[in-house]
Amino acid sequence: MARGGPVIAVDGPAAAGKGTLARRLAEALGLPYLDTGLLYRAVGRLALDAGRDPADPAQDIAQTLSPDALRRPDLRATEVAEAASKVAAQPLVRAALVETQRRFARESGAVLDGRDIGTVIFPDADLKLFITASPATRALRRFLQMGGDTTAPEAAQKLQEMEEALRARDAADAGRETAPLCIASDACVIETDTLDAASVLAEALRLARARLAGT
Ligand code: DC
Repeated sequence: MARGGPVIAVDGPAAAGKGTLARRLAEALGLPYLDTGLLYRAVGRLALDAGRDPADPAQDIAQTLSPDALRRPDLRATEVAEAASKVAAQPLVRAALVETQRRFARESGAVLDGRDIGTVIFPDADLKLFITASPATRALRRFLQMGGDTTAPEAAQKLQEMEEALRARDAADAGRETAPLCIASDACVIETDTLDAASVLAEALRLARARLAGT
């Protein structure tokens, strides 16, 4: 596929730190960045707005998705994440969004983060990273990101609930028939349980520079 620059795929489960890494990696390499989860979140949000069950066919929404729908401030809400996971399980919704993702990288390459970037969208990506961490680590990061206080009396209960919600979403994302979350055979896996964001970026940059030097 003719492309104007390198494509870097960043896949992994929810709250593993893909977004932070992908954004910083793109910045460091001077590449455009696309958070592909936003596409599914926007479709889920619009389905909820229309009073529809996100498990019902939503390809009409995906086929007519406007760039403005991706800029809504409420796409990070938990109910939207759950709706996104349901619309993302629909083959026709995924099919409607493939070209948008490929087109994004056509002109100058890109860093894209998601679940199936290295397996389905860009099986020929120049570099594939799979970013992961245990559910407990991911729940704690999400909790802190949302301003949670680990010393508060309800913290343990909240963390437990978040971990369960993450496990459920992982199971749905990995268990669906179309483009399930899985590690591409040629992906570099980065386990981030014991790494901070700066160390993950350093490792990703090392891999990217080594790989891109050879292209
Ligand atoms: O990365 P995220 O939490 O914003 O993703 C929201 C949902 O969208 C998630 O449950 C899985 C789905 N998704 C997907 O199926 N494929 C992608 N490339 C990106 C996200």
